[in-house]
Amino acid sequence: MRGIILAGGSGTRLRPLTSVHSKQLLPVYDKPMIYYPLSVLMQAGIREILIISTPEHLDVYRSLLGDGRRLGVSIAYAVQDAPKGLPEALVIGREFIGDQKVCLILGDNIFYGHRLPDMLREEAGRLSGCTLFGYQVSDPERYGVASVDDEGRIVSLEEKPAEPRSNLAVTGLYMYDNEALDRAAQLEPSARGELEITDLNLTFVREGRARLVNLGRGSAWFDTGTHDSLLEASMFVQVLEKRQGIRISCLEEIAYRMGFVGKEQLALLGKELSESSSYGRYVLDLAGA
Ligand code: TTP
Repeated sequence: MRGIILAGGSGTRLRPLTSVHSKQLLPVYDKPMIYYPLSVLMQAGIREILIISTPEHLDVYRSLLGDGRRLGVSIAYAVQDAPKGLPEALVIGREFIGDQKVCLILGDNIFYGHRLPDMLREEAGRLSGCTLFGYQVSDPERYGVASVDDEGRIVSLEEKPAEPRSNLAVTGLYMYDNEALDRAAQLEPSARGELEITDLNLTFVREGRARLVNLGRGSAWFDTGTHDSLLEASMFVQVLEKRQGIRISCLEEIAYRMGFVGKEQLALLGKELSESSSYGRYVLDLAGA
């Protein structure tokens, strides 16, 4: 399975923070936002990853993450000329995906939960059609909302419904089998001029081939698109990290624990980060250096 992080968009709601900066590079407590979605893909065991961003910002991602070799993964980059919608990631990434399945994650979504990595690996193994990940929210009318039958099959999917049929919001994490590439390429833009991910997902819902996995109450999901949600995500990370003395979504640690890099490389990564950074010190401690 290949992974794609969609890190473009215009970030209008976060201006002036995003007037010159790319949203997905803004800090979420101790690390750039894109570390979080990247950590999800790495924990799912996905090692071939494509980052898609705007023409103005793509090079900054390249400077930050390089070709991924330092972390034992492979990272490629592609431009989205204008924010023409989420399914365009599958059009832009066509060659990169080849004949594989794909996991698409939005660059501004943060997931946390100790069962998540296992869950993602299980779902990748049984994927046929599309699998979406739902999270119970108190304000479902702001999101794509799914309702499911007893077997987890999606029976309805509505974008920002006035009267939601459930409180399960569809999060920014999607798994597709290879058929989705042709379907994405055939989508027509909606009235607001964008390709809509819900339209792509509905093609699978109609065939009874769309699953929704509920992330469950023991996990956390944040979309960091507004000033408040960005701060809330930072505070969540800070509280957990301080309380437990661990770091969430520390790419260097994940690369090491997943067996993508060895202890020597981990120590090198820690040195590069510098021990004057508490993050760097954490990585050095893990490496026993
Ligand atoms: P949104 O939050 O829907 O859009 P945005 O980031 O442009 O923000 P705003 O609504 O404040 O203008 O996008 C969700 C994620 O998907 C975010 O990480 C940006 C990314 N995205 C793209 O990369 N390309 C696109 O065409 C769209 C629509 C979004």
